[in-house]
Amino acid sequence: MNKKYSINEVAQVFNITTNKLRFYEKKGLVKAYRDNTNNYRYYTKEHLVRIQTILMYRVLGFSIEDIEHILNKNYKDNVLEHFYKQWEILNNEMDRVRLLKDSIEELMDEMYESDDKEYIDKIIESVKKIHQVRCIKDNWKDRWNFNDWAKTYDISIRKNIGSLKIYKNYDKILQTVYEKSVKNIDKDINRIKVLDIGVGTGNLSEKYLNKGYNIIGIDQSREMLNVAKQKFPNLKVRLGEFLKIPFNNNQFDVIVSTYAFHHLNDMEKNLAIKEMVRVLKDDGRIVIGDLMFENDVKKENLINEFTNEQIEEIRDEYYSDIEKLETEFNKYNKRLVKNKIDKLNFVISIDNKK
Ligand SMILES: C[S@@+](CC[C@H](N)C(=O)[O-])C[C@H]1O[C@@H](n2cnc3c(N)ncnc32)[C@H](O)[C@@H]1O
Repeated sequence: MNKKYSINEVAQVFNITTNKLRFYEKKGLVKAYRDNTNNYRYYTKEHLVRIQTILMYRVLGFSIEDIEHILNKNYKDNVLEHFYKQWEILNNEMDRVRLLKDSIEELMDEMYESDDKEYIDKIIESVKKIHQVRCIKDNWKDRWNFNDWAKTYDISIRKNIGSLKIYKNYDKILQTVYEKSVKNIDKDINRIKVLDIGVGTGNLSEKYLNKGYNIIGIDQSREMLNVAKQKFPNLKVRLGEFLKIPFNNNQFDVIVSTYAFHHLNDMEKNLAIKEMVRVLKDDGRIVIGDLMFENDVKKENLINEFTNEQIEEIRDEYYSDIEKLETEFNKYNKRLVKNKIDKLNFVISIDNKK
């Protein structure tokens, strides 16, 4: 016969309060049976397994609502979906805390140097900056809907879609990024940590995977990651954005990205640069292949050659201005070397100034 457990016994088994069990019942997570004779709650082994599952997800920080959803649809895809959601919540929180911690640290250093009147102004200034950065980071949106594009992305490239034919040198760009990123790195391949940002369907990452590099890809699109995982089951992927890279400081020897950086405007690019430099090792290297103009003048000259349709297409994205990127990277004592692939595509390599 199925053993019956009283509410006190269950509370004791899991070292929780009886109130917590009543709370889970109120929220519809575990409904105890009632004894016909005295109407007391009682639980069975199945209840215990369910409670253990709930407690496990609570330890991982899942909300009551998410746990209810998982218990109702307890299959891998749904559970994974909730893990992604939880990962995103944690990563956003870590990014928020990191910004606060860095700003407070900076302020403390400045306070030592400022006089009694100055320091309040500095705090106000810093709070404004924090607010500004948060707004930029939290307002970035995928206007291009990459989730919808994921399944047909590889076909679109091969068809070289669009009036600007930006994919005509796709293979060359990926190959150039790969070669420049690993050239003369004096380390065993499997010890070189590579991050591919905006990994998409994994075409660039494949090159590193095939040679045995320790590579991980991040992308803001779940569907892109799904396609990448289907194509390359060994490729490690994480949900993540340029503006909130989900890793600790000084992790990567190499950061690469192709056809992704132009989804950020200039202010967002500056924050993304800060993020990339943060997760890059001190002697690391960044290589980006993307749509760029050398500077404003060259951009205007080129735009005069384009049709209205092509100009529209350019305006739908944020082509980089290489001179502006160079100025930004210089702030971190990094130098930028550009490599022209065609009219619109460049590969830029960034490493430490000698
Ligand atoms: C045109 S695809 C390029 C994919 C791949 N890198 C390639 O070369 O084929 C752009 C990718 O960048 C991702 N992406 C765009 N903006 C991003 C951002 N802010 N953070 C992370 N990924 C981003 C998109 O989701 C998409 O997968």
